[in-house]
Amino acid sequence: MTNKIVTLVTGGNRGMGLALIKALHAQGQQLIMGSRDLAKGRSAVEVAHLSDVTVVQLDVTDSQSIQAAVNAIQNQYGQLDILINNAGAAFDHHQRPSLIKLETIQADLNLNFLGTIAMTQACLPLLTKSSPSKIINISSMMGSLTNALDPQSSVYHASAIGYQASKAALNMFTIQLAKELQTTNITVNAVDPGMVATEFGGITPELASQHGAKSIAHGIQRTIDLATDKDNTTTGTFSNTDGPVAW
Ligand SMILES: NC(=O)c1ccc[n+]([C@@H]2O[C@H](COP(=O)([O-])OP(=O)(O)OC[C@H]3O[C@@H](n4cnc5c(N)ncnc54)[C@H](OP(=O)(O)O)[C@@H]3O)[C@@H](O)[C@H]2O)c1
Repeated sequence: MTNKIVTLVTGGNRGMGLALIKALHAQGQQLIMGSRDLAKGRSAVEVAHLSDVTVVQLDVTDSQSIQAAVNAIQNQYGQLDILINNAGAAFDHHQRPSLIKLETIQADLNLNFLGTIAMTQACLPLLTKSSPSKIINISSMMGSLTNALDPQSSVYHASAIGYQASKAALNMFTIQLAKELQTTNITVNAVDPGMVATEFGGITPELASQHGAKSIAHGIQRTIDLATDKDNTTTGTFSNTDGPVAW
């Protein structure tokens, strides 16, 4: 039990997830790191000297893993105030929509869309007990239908149908859940981190930087703003550090 805000970050062992954990921990929140490989999570916590961060094994595509993690949070804290659905990956890279394998699209949807829904549904009983509470979905501008149709947007030239569809679908989940919960104290928002220098996509952060990716600090700022917003009235939005992102 704690009197701190209790926050779970999925995919917390590296990249933006780990940076979110460090930043929100520094703000005085009690962090729980979801890591699908427990050893990687424990190592990340040790290296970052975050001894009071709780690590739970969590694969968001595995219902047993999800339930075990939620049970562990229930037993240790009896509460959850903020769920940051950060775990994600892109399984397709520049394949043509006419040729891409359905298995590839399925992998994107299983993790980024269905995994996020499964995680959220499992956490809702705990989030409902807390008041106020927040669900923050780490989406991507790549899921913006408006930008995919805009020749002036970098998304216009992207071709990752599985990943893009999974983030567009995640955006729709964000809208629908925010509407369902609008009379409660639970807010639901989607965030676009921008192109950020992590190991996302299997490249090095250095190579990503050379391609114009921004810093991790920049990528997590909008999520930090939402996670630390005391009013908690913003809901049903899709935004980045510059403001609203077109759906
Ligand atoms: N980097 C960008 O340019 C960018 C842009 C827009 C949106 N995003 C989004 O931002 C989020 C974080 O990305 P990142 O850049 O920090 O990527 P990253 O460094 O590749 O980290 C991804 C995290 O997700 C975890 N993960 C993957 N599959 C999982 C599963 N089945 N269950 C639980 N965790 C799983 C990974 O765990 P393992 O270490 O075990 O693989 C890792 O901790 C993702 O949702 C991504 O789509 C990133």
